[in-house]
Amino acid sequence: MSSIQKETKKITTNTLQRMKAHGEKISMLTAYDFSFAKIIDNAGIDVLLVGDSASNVMAGHETTLPITLEQMIYHASSVIRGISRCLVVVDLPFGSYQSNSEIALASAIRIMKETGAHAIKLEGGEEVLESVKRIISAGIPVMGHLGLTPQSIYKFGTYNVRAKEEEEANKLRNDAKLLEEVGCFGIVLEKIPAQLAREVTENVSIPTIGIGAGKYCDGQVLVMHDMLGINTEFKPRFLRQYLNLYEEITGAVQQYVNDVKTNSFPSDSESY
Ligand code: KIV
Repeated sequence: MSSIQKETKKITTNTLQRMKAHGEKISMLTAYDFSFAKIIDNAGIDVLLVGDSASNVMAGHETTLPITLEQMIYHASSVIRGISRCLVVVDLPFGSYQSNSEIALASAIRIMKETGAHAIKLEGGEEVLESVKRIISAGIPVMGHLGLTPQSIYKFGTYNVRAKEEEEANKLRNDAKLLEEVGCFGIVLEKIPAQLAREVTENVSIPTIGIGAGKYCDGQVLVMHDMLGINTEFKPRFLRQYLNLYEEITGAVQQYVNDVKTNSFPSDSESY
């Protein structure tokens, strides 16, 4: 473990700020349930994101749009019961904050009150700024999310790299500064050119966490099912797959089926 990680019993938003100041990279993964949250927290992750990607990898939807606030609360409260050290950030799902700042604050309060999570994340810049301000005024830490924002997939039309053109890159630069100014504690930068992510990272005082945004961000995040190879259908260039759990689990289940069919499970020592 690196130095700030070692000396920290509980990761807070201040810890992340110190990591940025000391050039210590921040590690973040998604989790959606008690058991995986426990493993990942014990393994030394800095931040767990209860992402609305649960809509894809847990519920099998094509997009993140269908997941509800109630479902996010269920996932987040399960994750919280599994962790003792990392910071837990929860996505506000589509439809729970876009209408107005009052609804956004009410959704954020429900997440904090009913799950015990430490912070929320929402997608967008200038267009959600009033909501971000209001949530932060209530004492709730907010993480921004710029670049490819999956809740807007039907506006974008594709999951391709964002902000390659100057106009969109300028909006992103401006949005990052606005999110910093209103008090966000960090910003996820998803699928944007590495040099743009580098520029944003150097120009804001809060940590940037990249996914498909290159190595200059202050930290990195991946979806747990993708990096563990549980979900094998999604193989973007930015993904490093650390395990092939799909194959491992398939092998184990095949072995179990065979053992049951051949009556070699249970053995006498596995019986009472
Ligand atoms: O929902 C999610 O998993 C996310 C990450 C991709 C950053 O927002």
